[in-house]
Amino acid sequence: MRQQIITKLLAGVAGLGLALGAVGAYASPESDRQELIKYYQSKYPNIKIDDYVYGALAFDEDSKAQYDAIMEFPPYEADIDAGRKLWETPFKNGKTYASCLPNGGKNIAGNYPMFDEAKGKVVTLNDAINDCRTANGEEAYKLGDKNTMGKLTAYMRTLSDGMLMNVKVQGPKAMAAYEDGKKSFFTRKGQLNFACASCHVQNAGTRLRSELISPAVGHTVHWPVFRGGDNLVMLQNRYEGCFKQVRAVPPAIGSTTMNNLEYFHSSLSNGLPMKASVFRK
Ligand code: HEC
Repeated sequence: MRQQIITKLLAGVAGLGLALGAVGAYASPESDRQELIKYYQSKYPNIKIDDYVYGALAFDEDSKAQYDAIMEFPPYEADIDAGRKLWETPFKNGKTYASCLPNGGKNIAGNYPMFDEAKGKVVTLNDAINDCRTANGEEAYKLGDKNTMGKLTAYMRTLSDGMLMNVKVQGPKAMAAYEDGKKSFFTRKGQLNFACASCHVQNAGTRLRSELISPAVGHTVHWPVFRGGDNLVMLQNRYEGCFKQVRAVPPAIGSTTMNNLEYFHSSLSNGLPMKASVFRK
């Protein structure tokens, strides 16, 4: 019975237009997103897509209730305060992040990652923060570092709470980066031979050992997360963890491969509201 269900799911995914290897012209990112939503909705007609921002919690009422209680008095507020301090402290030249980033750094997180035509590559929000630092004579932060970039973005990204994810893919170079990210997402890897999609598409809403698996739509709107209430995890740190779960060697944080993956993955959440710094198990 279970085997039958799994076979059926895999067959379902093979029919998705966004499955890797689709021939002919590139599918548009918007139609990829719509296809994926259609796929999830046909499996889980009772779960609203808006609730996918809660990840696996959307599939488990008890855990969601627990989450709501924790979010009333988040145990990680000290980290967000530390991030605010980092955000507000001027650089040695007197400038600030707010004077360097677009719109004073408010309501911009949903525009990232973006494709920078001049650089010819994808720029994540963390890259933009580092560009801001180096343009003002400061050293770049180490991208995966929880104490600097992590805490800074735990505060900074709250300035975009409520903004709708709005990742744009325009022009052939941006499209190539998007396709590269999509390939990473759908390619099987590691000793266990799983793709991101094996878990977060085919098996979204099912349990892996004791853990409910979240859908890929809604994945990118709520970073960083605080796992267990105190362990700050940024999005690409989480990718790293998922690569390791399937015993694959993760690409470096901030590498083109990781950034293109984040670019594709983020566009899947277009239209969903941002909410930074949330609790996760
Ligand atoms: C073997 C199954 C498996 C594979 C393959 C896998 N993940 Fe995960 N992933 C999980 C589990 C389990 C969790 C924790 C429960 C959850 O939130 O889904 C998780 C969590 C996540 C989260 C956090 C969700 C949240 O709201 O906190 C993201 C983002 C994510 N994975 C992305 C990826 C990406 C990108 C890939 C491919 C590089 C990938 N995963 C591959 C099982 C997997």
